[in-house]
Amino acid sequence: LNLLIHTSLSSETPQPSQGPSTPKPLSAYEKYLSDCASKFKPRCGEQIFFGVFVGNQTVTNRCCLSLLNDMGKACHTDVTKFAVSLPTFKQNQTQILKRSEKVWNDCSSHLINLH
Ligand SMILES: *[C@@H]1O[C@H](CO)[C@@H](O)[C@H](O)[C@H]1NC(C)=O
Ligand SMILES: *[C@@H]1O[C@H](CO)[C@@H](O)[C@H](O)[C@H]1NC(C)=O
Repeated sequence: LNLLIHTSLSSETPQPSQGPSTPKPLSAYEKYLSDCASKFKPRCGEQIFFGVFVGNQTVTNRCCLSLLNDMGKACHTDVTKFAVSLPTFKQNQTQILKRSEKVWNDCSSHLINLH
């Protein structure tokens, strides 16, 4: 997800006229998103990225833990909301937001069941 933010931001920069969603280069808000996305354990960012944005990946318990404990709900939601505002993901916004919610809920219930 951190990679996603950086790639999206840099791919946006050459074409600032593309949309109203990114008014400034790297705002404090985008730095916050980038910082919170970087809290993932290795490979979990990828897993959750594909789980949420592509929908072809299930999230392991280890990465669920990382999502719930390292990242947290606010960060997860904010990063997803930011990403779906980008041109790359805009057309799949509804699906992605649903999957994001589902991944979070599935993770929460898996972990409750483990206890
Ligand atoms: C999910 O899709 C992406 C992009 O199409 C691919 O790179 C990745 O390997 C896929 N993951 C799985 C588990 O199929
Ligand atoms: C959006 O969804 C369509 C249909 O499910 C899919 O073919 C396409 O690859 C998705 N686009 C992105 C950017 O994920």
